[in-house]
Amino acid sequence: MLSISNLCAGYGDQEVLHGVDISVAPDEIVALIGPNGAGKSTVLKAVFSQCDVTEGKIFWKDRDITHLATHELIEEGICFVPQGRILFSDLSVRENLEMGAFVLADRDVAERNLSEVFGKFPMLKQKQNEYAFALSGGQQQMLAIGRALMQNPQLLLLDEPSLGLAPKTMKEIFQKIVEINQEGIGVMIVEQNAKQAVSIASSTYVLEDGKIALKAGKEILSDPRIKSIYFGGR
Ligand SMILES: Nc1ncnc2c1ncn2[C@@H]1O[C@H](COP(=O)(O)OP(=O)(O)OP(=O)(O)O)[C@@H](O)[C@H]1O
Ligand SMILES: [Mg+2]
Repeated sequence: MLSISNLCAGYGDQEVLHGVDISVAPDEIVALIGPNGAGKSTVLKAVFSQCDVTEGKIFWKDRDITHLATHELIEEGICFVPQGRILFSDLSVRENLEMGAFVLADRDVAERNLSEVFGKFPMLKQKQNEYAFALSGGQQQMLAIGRALMQNPQLLLLDEPSLGLAPKTMKEIFQKIVEINQEGIGVMIVEQNAKQAVSIASSTYVLEDGKIALKAGKEILSDPRIKSIYFGGR
């Protein structure tokens, strides 16, 4: 269980989040939507200790993780796939995955994780010796998610996994996220593709100007205001 309360965070003296409350139950998918610049990525970065938290607390399974180092968060089972699928483009697919497991001391576990990731993404197995830069956008996103899965996460933080992808590829990515969640991994997903994200989520938070403007369940899909602003009126 992740519990974020009264989170104020930003960059240096620029405060971006002004008192944000979010909780993610185990095995749940939570969507975070909102306009550009609202602070969605900053929420994920705050959880992953990648920006400055000035007030508030972040608890994970009753432990205060607010100022833990990134490697400690990974050891706690929290993994982050940042916006823009940052990969080691000059390394092969397999090497990228192996880099994901560098935090794991146990090589047998790393091997087992690798075969699980190959099982989930047969395309990655097939292309394991190719350079990451030679993959398509969707394949790179799968690799970025696969790399996070190498770390045995219990909670996956996904920032805009469908960014720039064709509709068919986007669907595949969302399908994979559902499958990953069904295996017992909690997911917090930030998305511009609000409709898709909300459809797979059990709860949705709308972030506007660094504050939670609305928290809702699936009924948000038919909320007229949300529809017109975030679902392109559809
Ligand atoms: N590394 C940084 N240093 C300083 N300011 C930053 C940094 N990253 C983001 N910001 C600022 O924080 C604010 C929120 O940015 P954030 O990336 O969290 O928004 P977002 O909701 O994820 O937007 P988008 O939908 O465009 O990804 C913006 O005003 C942005 O300029
Ligand atoms: Mg963002």
